[in-house]
Amino acid sequence: MCGIVGFIGREEAAPILLEGLSRLEYRGYDSAGIAVYDPEEGLQVVKAKGRLQVLSDIVAGGKTIHGTVGLGHTRWATHGEPSDVNSHPHVSEDGRIAVVHNGIIENYMEIKEYLQGKGVKFVSQTDTEVVAQLLEYYYKKQPDDLLGAVVKVLHRIQGAYAFGIISADHPDQLVAARKDSPLILGYGKGFHFLASDVTAVIRYTREVSYLDDGEIAVLTADSVQVYNALLEPVEKEHHQVDWEISAAEKGGYEHFMAKEIMEQPKAFRDTVFPRIQEGQVVLDDLQLPVEYLREMDKVYIIACGSSYHVGMAAKYTLEKLLRKPVEVTLASEFRYCDPIVTDRTLALVISQSGETIDTLAAMREAKRLGARVLSIVNVVGSTIARESDDVLYTWAGPEIAVATTKAYSTQLAVVYLIGLYCAKLLGTVGEEEYRAIVDELLLIPTKIEEILANRGDIQYFASIYFNHPSIFFIGRNIDYAVGLEGSLKLKEISYIHSEAYAAGELKHGTISLIEPGTLVVALAGHGKLFEKTMSNVVEVKSRGADVLGVTTAGRTEQMGKTADHVIPVPDTHPMLLPSLEVVPMQLFAYYVALQRGCDIDKPRNLAKSVTVE
Ligand code: F6R
Repeated sequence: MCGIVGFIGREEAAPILLEGLSRLEYRGYDSAGIAVYDPEEGLQVVKAKGRLQVLSDIVAGGKTIHGTVGLGHTRWATHGEPSDVNSHPHVSEDGRIAVVHNGIIENYMEIKEYLQGKGVKFVSQTDTEVVAQLLEYYYKKQPDDLLGAVVKVLHRIQGAYAFGIISADHPDQLVAARKDSPLILGYGKGFHFLASDVTAVIRYTREVSYLDDGEIAVLTADSVQVYNALLEPVEKEHHQVDWEISAAEKGGYEHFMAKEIMEQPKAFRDTVFPRIQEGQVVLDDLQLPVEYLREMDKVYIIACGSSYHVGMAAKYTLEKLLRKPVEVTLASEFRYCDPIVTDRTLALVISQSGETIDTLAAMREAKRLGARVLSIVNVVGSTIARESDDVLYTWAGPEIAVATTKAYSTQLAVVYLIGLYCAKLLGTVGEEEYRAIVDELLLIPTKIEEILANRGDIQYFASIYFNHPSIFFIGRNIDYAVGLEGSLKLKEISYIHSEAYAAGELKHGTISLIEPGTLVVALAGHGKLFEKTMSNVVEVKSRGADVLGVTTAGRTEQMGKTADHVIPVPDTHPMLLPSLEVVPMQLFAYYVALQRGCDIDKPRNLAKSVTVE
């Protein structure tokens, strides 16, 4: 949700900022802008509604700006519609301070009215302009103390923020501050960066640190000083980013989503294989004592969106393996539902970005209530990862497409590992069953490869159904969990209305929407429930639905007797089925969206990392 980048060094800042923004565009893409301090012209700002390309074209078309310190922003609108004037950076009335912001200033209206009362003129509808104007206001009261003015502003505002700030009076400084929105610092020889994530800086440096809430940083070309909220100097640990820039590029694919779907076998292997040694799940990075597990009263899974759908599958898996109650809740609901959490509750927090504000806030609430937090996170060093008691990383690499695919698959993989590991400690899984699941787990990447090799069939089904106005997904148990994800994938990138239902629930209302020609995607991989789901398939067929079935290879023929088409997935242990079934769902959504000419990697109204409530 909004990407910010700041650069200070000895080279021209504008091209570096634009390059950084191109890596951050997945975080928001309704407008973009840069501000650079030009020693001759003062602060120069170029910003425009639309994709980053619009801004790049303006800059390339003659609006050249010189200077070695600057800020860039790519926006996902919250306050104020997408427009040129609402785009960031925002500049103070005297044109001497520029600000980029990711987050929401909740009390902006009250401050705006206060400043308006002092005669300050505002030009935009954004909460961020208030910060630029307030900075000028405090700075004028105590000139030459930019840091002091920043601190005063931070005390006055409420909400979530990651800021980048430059000032014409201090062109040798770039100021950064954060609370509840991600911000990293990048270190180079003779240059430094601030950015929403490492993708924006990796081309220039691999050395980064992660700002914590309440911290402020002052960057110059040759130094970085970080302070806590009391303005005491803080030593930051430096980290080396260990992935290549090619991981954040399309690598010959038309879309990041296609690339990321195809990367799933590797991502699954990277996540699982090093954690299985001599047939045993080894989680060296997990510190859950067996006594804790024995006493544990329940597992509370907290997540949003697709990560929540992983949680839905995890409920079935973990309850079966651990014989402990597992509750799954949407993070945005958890905070306000007075949850029953004790110091014996394990909060299992699932997040690709590790920055989703709803998930982060729910996690903090769970901690406050006494829960121990184990998180499954993809982005190393993200806030959720750092604030958890234990974190298990999904080694999926950077995920750029807004619609998650490989992160979902690796999250599932980590759920299996946690389930097996804890069940073994608790003695709730038999040796034979344990071995059977571990053996199958190792075969999953090859089986995903098999599905990917047959993607032409799924492209064909997409070409038949891409114009359907409404598509239903049904399934039971873990098939239902996959249906939820299949439906979300489809609607978010193709804009086709879609719903997922527990197959047995359809007849309690939703079946009234089924009419001749309605497409129903029926997931029936779960062997024990196959017949039950098939009876629901018969119900929708008798009302004229077209049925696209998904089941295991061994049942394809049987399902084909009723369904119009069947997508087979290789046979596997029932618990691991979601890892296979989800792949045709991702491919189906992708090819449908492709047929419809949708902007697959950047669907309308969405952004990758949701850092506002
Ligand atoms: C859908 C999708 C979103 C995310 C959700 C949570 O394709 O990607 O639904 O799953 O916004 O994000 P994370 O996992 O980063 O917390």
